[in-house]
Amino acid sequence: MSWDVRPCSSKDELRAAVSPIWHYFGRSGPSPDDQIERVTSVLAAERMHAAWEDGRAVGGAGAFAFELTVPGGRVPAAGVTAVAVLPTHRRRGILRAMMRAQLDACRERGEPIAYLWATEDTIYGRFGYGIASFTAEIELPRERSAYHAPFEPSGAARLMPLREAEDVLTPVYERVAVETPGMFTRTAAWWQARALADPEWRRRGGGDLQCVVLELDGGPAAYALYRLNVAFERGLQTGTVEVVEAMGDSPRATRAIWRYLLDIDWMARVRASLLPVDHPLLLLLAEPRRLRFNVRDGLWVRLVDVGAALAVRSFTAQGSVVVEVADRFCPWNEGGWRVSDGGVARTDDEPELRCDVTALGSVYLGGFTWAQLARALRVEEVRHGAIARADALFHTGLAPWCIEIF
Ligand SMILES: CC(C)(COP(=O)(O)OP(=O)(O)OC[C@H]1O[C@@H](n2cnc3c(N)ncnc32)[C@H](O)[C@@H]1OP(=O)(O)O)[C@@H](O)C(=O)NCCC(=O)NCCS
Repeated sequence: MSWDVRPCSSKDELRAAVSPIWHYFGRSGPSPDDQIERVTSVLAAERMHAAWEDGRAVGGAGAFAFELTVPGGRVPAAGVTAVAVLPTHRRRGILRAMMRAQLDACRERGEPIAYLWATEDTIYGRFGYGIASFTAEIELPRERSAYHAPFEPSGAARLMPLREAEDVLTPVYERVAVETPGMFTRTAAWWQARALADPEWRRRGGGDLQCVVLELDGGPAAYALYRLNVAFERGLQTGTVEVVEAMGDSPRATRAIWRYLLDIDWMARVRASLLPVDHPLLLLLAEPRRLRFNVRDGLWVRLVDVGAALAVRSFTAQGSVVVEVADRFCPWNEGGWRVSDGGVARTDDEPELRCDVTALGSVYLGGFTWAQLARALRVEEVRHGAIARADALFHTGLAPWCIEIF
């Protein structure tokens, strides 16, 4: 049997193209209409590639059209999603063909970056994606959740129906997202189809999605989306507050929204995931050890167009560094690049650093340093001092954070 890869051209084709990923979520048959409505509201059919065999999709790979926050600006980026090949067709090169078509399409559209969450950390390096951030999860017993300093409640917390939440949450999210590398702009469709959607399958047996907004100094400054997963054993509370997302637009607002979440009665513990590795809770709590702060790989970033991607990023020191980039999958990126606070340009000058394009993906959002890459032998320092200079240029001071798996 032979297959070929091409983008979808209709809603029905899109429905077929997401069926391989539904398969891995344990679903059979076509996706239900409400799910497809939600998908099509945020993913254009032509942004979903599929591998077709006799008119049937045996693989799929999608790309949301995001505006990604990077250090110093925002840039169009492909948010890679719903990648899967049916078990009947694995290891025949279908993923490779879909990655080829998808990255070529990003380049044609002028998206200099593609990024994703990987289900396995072994899959995407071969296509030029570098691990770009770590993400953390916590599980904190409520009785060990005191802050290190006395907390005087400030502001007013207000529960809000999900249907009213978008207008109130959007400005808070936007103030945080514009400052935070890794976050992307949420459209109204994204709020409705993704962030505020609460279909049964997403609850996994837990409570409804709840929304709380915290007002400080006369306006919304923080919010949280969470579930109360209630449980008792022999009369003792064993339930969990499952934090879906929580953020504040200032340190005071962040401290207050987390205190709200940590103080909900009946609950034995608070769980959250997809937190940045520099989350303020680490220093807010009297006993940070009790967080059981657990990290794993987060975002993976692919510089589709090295020159354009570096040109939109800010650099924080004076001077420059010449990086020689190897990129087998996207050879148009190969060669020498001079990176400086004044701009980025191709160069034939002697390289000072030599690396694979995956290394650029790792330092791009500020999640890793060149020194870390050097210690792992992922960059070669050709000229002494170049690593330190590159780190001064690429420094950000804020860990990348993406609050949702897309
Ligand atoms: C991961 C998956 C998409 C791979 O698809 P595939 O069509 O079998 O992949 P290909 O045949 O194109 O393989 C391309 C390369 O990736 C490697 N590869 C593929 N899947 C891999 C995995 N899970 N772990 C390690 N390597 C993998 C192949 O060995 C091959 O290596 P090569 O280039 O050195 O020969 C498929 O197995 C799948 O759908 N898995 C479940 C869903 C999933 O994890 N999706 C990813 C969501 S982020």
